Amino acid sequence: MTEDLRIAFVTDLHLSAVRPYYQDNWELVLEWIEEEKPDLVVVGGDVVLSDPDDDADHAFARKQLDRITAPWLVIPGNHDVGENIISGGKGQKKVDEARRRRWLDHFGQDFWRNDVGEWTLIGVNAQIVNGDGLAADEEQKTFLAEAAAMTPDDRPIALFVHKPLFMDHPSETDVHGHCLELDARRQLLAPFAGKRLVFIACGHKHQYRSFGMDGLLHIWAPATSSINFPPDVKMWGLREVGFIDFSLGQGERLGRVRQRLVGRDFLFRHESYIRNLEYGDVMKAPPVDQRG
Ligand SMILES: [Fe+2]
Ligand SMILES: [Fe+2]
Repeated sequence: MTEDLRIAFVTDLHLSAVRPYYQDNWELVLEWIEEEKPDLVVVGGDVVLSDPDDDADHAFARKQLDRITAPWLVIPGNHDVGENIISGGKGQKKVDEARRRRWLDHFGQDFWRNDVGEWTLIGVNAQIVNGDGLAADEEQKTFLAEAAAMTPDDRPIALFVHKPLFMDHPSETDVHGHCLELDARRQLLAPFAGKRLVFIACGHKHQYRSFGMDGLLHIWAPATSSINFPPDVKMWGLREVGFIDFSLGQGERLGRVRQRLVGRDFLFRHESYIRNLEYGDVMKAPPVDQRG
């Protein structure tokens, strides 16, 4: 019997050299990877604490990813390259060529296609989709069309993207600032018409959710770092920390997905909103070495 492909999907690490508020959880995730030896680790973005312009945090996050004792791939999140131009919240730093360049300098690529065993994995830079004239958006669009076209119709595909495609239903237009807007959603999925797209895994919301819709599985991985927002804010999924342990079927089980939430029982359930409320912004919180 062909062995399953085991993929750990870890996301929203929110790492920082001077504000290592979630470093304890990252150490525990690294330990788990070392012990469990997945075939691959996919990192779902938001690897830096908060500021897409903080070069030191990008360098630090890269060093932390290099500690992963398994093959790994990474896609960027909104804190790594800036927010989506059209749907990103007001007052947020938006993605641009310079911010994307910073990411590429540290991490090499922001979208990719990888054949692993009998599956094809595709990673996307969610922040540049429907990028309002951004050259990188066109580049990625061409890449996605080619990546889908070169994948045989019966080969299972898994898509990794930082943000959820939607919150309540696929045709919704109110994105609440939390997910891809309608046009971005449609543009992202268009190349996969007629293909065997099995699941989409995302991060960003720091919540766990797994549901099927029109033959496609949507899996929201929680953050390894923290949960966010006060407890009375509307929540769509489970408000926990952790990550996803995927077992992807091959051979006679080709296309079968088993996934489980790992870590809620051993990671610290940090709550980022407490520090945000105290200091107004996490980047204004005191660096650890200045504390009394
Ligand atoms: Fe995040
Ligand atoms: Fe995010």
